[in-house]
Amino acid sequence: MNDKTEKELIKSNILGKVLFSECDIRKRISELGKEITKDYKQKNLLLVSILRGGVIFLSDLIKQIDLPLSIDFMSISSYGIDGTSTGVVRITKDLDESIEGKDVLIVEDIIDTGLTISYLLRNLRSRFPESLRICTLLDRDVRRIADIDIKYIGFKIGEKYIVGYGLDYKQKFRNLQSIYELKLDAVTRDVESLKNSSSV
Ligand code: PRP
Repeated sequence: MNDKTEKELIKSNILGKVLFSECDIRKRISELGKEITKDYKQKNLLLVSILRGGVIFLSDLIKQIDLPLSIDFMSISSYGIDGTSTGVVRITKDLDESIEGKDVLIVEDIIDTGLTISYLLRNLRSRFPESLRICTLLDRDVRRIADIDIKYIGFKIGEKYIVGYGLDYKQKFRNLQSIYELKLDAVTRDVESLKNSSSV
């Protein structure tokens, strides 16, 4: 799995359907960038990305925002059960700058149960930002547990396991240009490659 190119992964059935192509993603990010540019004129915009998956989205999004802005990063480790988050979160890398008085926009690749972002909202709210909103590329609201208000959504998605454009399976596939359905049964069959993959 680790040493296959994007084309080979498709051929060997590890990657299923393209859910959002490179072109779909680029177009939607340009629209989001325009919306954010309009909404944050004369504001003190700070985009906060949550490592690691959100970084790819953040780097494309900021290029579409025609305003002065800053970026900062947080890393968290969440305690999950069977790949599902529990909302029990520990900050492993905090922001470098204070957010007091700033217009903070949290940038995520995907919001699923909403438990991680709920924790982040509570945490960041206590630091007195001027405003605090969420922008996510993907919104999987079918699994939502926490009640959250998402200001900017790229695409809504269903239950399928997806990879690419920042989204991983055991830390792989983040570099794919499009977002694909992952054929988990084919991945399991690809045992030899999995064994050779250092971080699996
Ligand atoms: C993903 C995503 C969110 C979280 C959403 O991160 O970036 O932070 O899961 O899940 P939730 O809404 O159910 O809480 P992940 O833990 O996969 O880490 P990664 O960004 O390093 O891939």
